[in-house]
Amino acid sequence: MIKTAVLGYGTVGSGVAKVFDVNKDAIAGRIGDTVEVKYILDLREFPGDPNGHKVVHDYEVILNDPEIRVIAEVMGGVEPAHTFVKKALMAGKSAVTSNKEMVALYGAELLAVAREHHVNFLFEASVGGGIPVIRPLTQALLADQFEEVTGILNGTTNYMLTKMDAEGADYDTVLKQAQDNGYAERHPEADVEGFDACRKIAILTSLVCGRQVNYEEIPTEGITKITETDFKYADALGAGIKLLGTSRMTPEGVFAKVSPVLIPESHPLYPVRDVFNAILVKGNMLGDVMFYGKGAGSEPTASAVVSDMLTCLRYEGCTLPIRWAAEAQPLADPKKFPSRFLVRVKGDPQARAEDVRALFGEVSICTPEGVEGEFAVLTREMTLGEAEEACEKLEGFAGRLFADL
Ligand code: HSE
Repeated sequence: MIKTAVLGYGTVGSGVAKVFDVNKDAIAGRIGDTVEVKYILDLREFPGDPNGHKVVHDYEVILNDPEIRVIAEVMGGVEPAHTFVKKALMAGKSAVTSNKEMVALYGAELLAVAREHHVNFLFEASVGGGIPVIRPLTQALLADQFEEVTGILNGTTNYMLTKMDAEGADYDTVLKQAQDNGYAERHPEADVEGFDACRKIAILTSLVCGRQVNYEEIPTEGITKITETDFKYADALGAGIKLLGTSRMTPEGVFAKVSPVLIPESHPLYPVRDVFNAILVKGNMLGDVMFYGKGAGSEPTASAVVSDMLTCLRYEGCTLPIRWAAEAQPLADPKKFPSRFLVRVKGDPQARAEDVRALFGEVSICTPEGVEGEFAVLTREMTLGEAEEACEKLEGFAGRLFADL
């Protein structure tokens, strides 16, 4: 019997224990031996829980047990998670994690430590929950040059935007529902301000470029300013509003950003609803390929964590090659990002059309039913810098959205 350990018995940790329990026969068939969780590291006790007797409070117990060959870090937060994972790798144990913040910061370092100690560090669950996207990017698509990676990378905000759009539900109610379903982060600002999606696109961009992308350099807008009125404009344009993490590899450099974007019904990400995530990858030979599934929640995320643990066991003695050097990947100036924009303007469209055209050039005007005292224009393609400059000068400016229309 193979013994493993899980660090953290929260939403994902309890899911990991469940996957090992419910799927024990299928797992044994695939690995050729039964696999069991021997320890759960947590500060709390879990009286009455069937795994309560596995709980330990001292990490050294796990580290010093030669029976433990792989650990799963699902406690979240940067420290002590990072130190625990590093110590496990240095002790010759493979480690897997769902912790995007830790991976975004220390992915390159931990991969190097794993290589040095001939073990594996895998982090499939850190992006897109249960969706396999890291393995495709690092193994299945080796022949392609990537032109773009764009994804709905946060289940909480996608769930919220879906409900706000379809049901006209208010922001606080839908956030509460997402939290009750175990989708949201401990501090939901990480979801709604776009920070979680930012960590995830930083990880994907680091993997695509093979070098460290510093997430603090990625311009990030969340969904806190999205209102019912924005959805009325979206409806009038036959579009949806999605929080997208994007990186684009262009001759001008690598652009990365997180922001709400208007996308048309024909866009592959348009039908992605609720807690589902999807990552659209554009390869220069392959064209478009999309990975879709549940991006948050206990069981889907645990499925990816356990799958990584089993991969570590299957490839013991061989470190899977994942290209991610510590050297910094420079990002292109975000102000040069080209896009169309939806710009909201207070006042009467007839009276204001000339002012708007003087600043933005040719635009189409959008006046949906039920929107009073304002209108919006859809600009031609321009850079973010040009759009921001024009918005600053625009009297009655009431907001702007990226529009991939
Ligand atoms: N809070 C995250 C989300 C969890 O909603 O997507 C998965 O990373």
